[in-house]
Amino acid sequence: MTNEHLILKLNEALGWELRAINMYAHYAAYIRGIHRMQLEPHFTAEANESMVHSNIVRSAIVKLGGVAVTERNPMPIEHVSSYTDMLAQSLITEMKAAEVYGELMPMIEDAGDADLYDAIEQIYLAEVRSVEELGRLVE
Ligand SMILES: [Fe+2]
Repeated sequence: MTNEHLILKLNEALGWELRAINMYAHYAAYIRGIHRMQLEPHFTAEANESMVHSNIVRSAIVKLGGVAVTERNPMPIEHVSSYTDMLAQSLITEMKAAEVYGELMPMIEDAGDADLYDAIEQIYLAEVRSVEELGRLVE
């Protein structure tokens, strides 16, 4: 395993985080009705968390000597109006993120970088928790 593969996968994760920042900020701005009371803070917190995650992943790429992507993952961000559609889009996004971090974990284990492993594991677990929570909200 070369650093090159690891940097590629970290960049994939970074692209999803950059997309998540946009998506959650967008839904925080557009959420309407009674659900705004709970979902505006929720989407804002998710946007901020994605910013924190993106900073951790970008720093890891820098440390490995790679070039971090500056463009978000190209999957379209759907402009939707209903809160159920926003939550469904959130679930899709979190599932994608959890998938990528799940693929990253064994790669980082192979690379033998304990600090990086701990940092990425925290993000991975956060994404998995989000998938579980959204799964309960969407059903
Ligand atoms: Fe994240």
